Amino acid sequence: MGLPDHFMWGGASAANQCEGGISEGGRGLANVDVCPAGPDRRDVITGHKKMLRMDQEHRYPAAEGVDFYHRFREDIRLMGEMGFQVYRMSIAWTRIFPNGEEETPNEEGLLFYENVFKECRKYHIRPLVTISHFDCPVHLIEKYGGWRDRRMIGCYLRLCRVLFERYGDYVTHWLTFNEINMILHAPFMGAGLCFEEGENEEQVKYQAAHHELVASALAVKLAHEINPNNQVGCMFAAGSAYPYSCRPEDVWEALLTDQENYFFVDVQARGYYPSYAVKRLQRKGVCPVMAEGDEELLRAYPVDFISFSYYNSRCIAAAEQETAEGNLFKSAKNPYLTFSEWGWPIDPLGLRITLNEVYDRYQKPLFIVENGLGALDRPDENGCVEDDYRIDYLREHIRAMKAAVEEDGVDLMGYTSWAPVDLISAGTGEMKKRYGFVYVDKNEDGTGTGNRTRKKSFYWYQKVIETNGEVL
Ligand code: BG6
Repeated sequence: MGLPDHFMWGGASAANQCEGGISEGGRGLANVDVCPAGPDRRDVITGHKKMLRMDQEHRYPAAEGVDFYHRFREDIRLMGEMGFQVYRMSIAWTRIFPNGEEETPNEEGLLFYENVFKECRKYHIRPLVTISHFDCPVHLIEKYGGWRDRRMIGCYLRLCRVLFERYGDYVTHWLTFNEINMILHAPFMGAGLCFEEGENEEQVKYQAAHHELVASALAVKLAHEINPNNQVGCMFAAGSAYPYSCRPEDVWEALLTDQENYFFVDVQARGYYPSYAVKRLQRKGVCPVMAEGDEELLRAYPVDFISFSYYNSRCIAAAEQETAEGNLFKSAKNPYLTFSEWGWPIDPLGLRITLNEVYDRYQKPLFIVENGLGALDRPDENGCVEDDYRIDYLREHIRAMKAAVEEDGVDLMGYTSWAPVDLISAGTGEMKKRYGFVYVDKNEDGTGTGNRTRKKSFYWYQKVIETNGEVL
């Protein structure tokens, strides 16, 4: 019993939420840079308010992030100290191709990530690289309207080729798109989509999704051609949908919600559009236009493994119910669960349920690449953060994960918690919603020294890794 020896422990972050330095190193402007903090954020990330430039009235938290761009050596050293075996991180597309379609990549950007990988190597940390984590050059949004245009596939593959060729010595594990199903809930973040008055949003989203799915299959092909040791995974926002009651109508609605999310993985892992999706898209008149050969490509290049984020389960009711928040979208409030300070359900058993469901469905290795608690941390007079609430959350989720592996036989490659060092929230743009084992001295208004301090959970996680999950 116990987790396998090759099980990988670590943490995960995203370039736009931690790097900052958006006008350094020749970097271009990206969609995530122009998502403001505050009340307009929701409309911007959902594509309902077009803001492709920064203005004076808003604050743009990605501009500074938590300064990983300058402090990555310190941050990776802290990860090394915790014993990380894997660090999931993402590439800022516009550091490599500032406008997304230059002939040659930007050497300064390439060097930055090379240095990051070298630093990881010092501590025997293997990078797991998300090629696009809510990331799209603004130039491509202006020129093509983001992923609604098929030409995005070529731009994305140009990036992939450079990454696979240049970083072959450092990276063998890749994820094509972060939370690909979030294109339905945060289409500007997920695909650079801004909607025009009166257009059929669903059609645009599924067309863009189709382009990402084809791009993902072609990335798998390219990765394997360039280095047969490359392993490429998909990534989706998971969390099983529970029926609000055993009323068949509730059960049916929950099934539909699950299908909406599994649709993406069905295509990426099985290699074809599932029949339920074909029927539904046809019925709604929103079938994506496919090019000749797309279906063959999807079939020929499924992913090697499946990764996902898990923060909470969802609860689905046919009739109107009180709602609860959750990772980017709301669902009915589950009366049997407790909730985080941001109103997200806390459901460790839900992780075991989700792991079983996903593994049953696909029979491919899984990887939990995000899981964690966004909470307010209050350093005491000595600057220490006693984050027992975070330890409790993670402990219970890791217990559930272990049960799924040890008792249910789920094939799980590893676990990377979100996020090792505090960073900016994707959903709200807040700094005060913290996930880290390491506290960053930075306030909501951007003030603070940026200094890093180990929280209580830092030492706890260090022990968890040292004992391969035996001491929790
Ligand atoms: C996932 C994203 O949606 O959840 C991350 O992949 C994000 O980018 C994480 O940070 C937590 O969400 P939030 O909104 O609390 O930052």
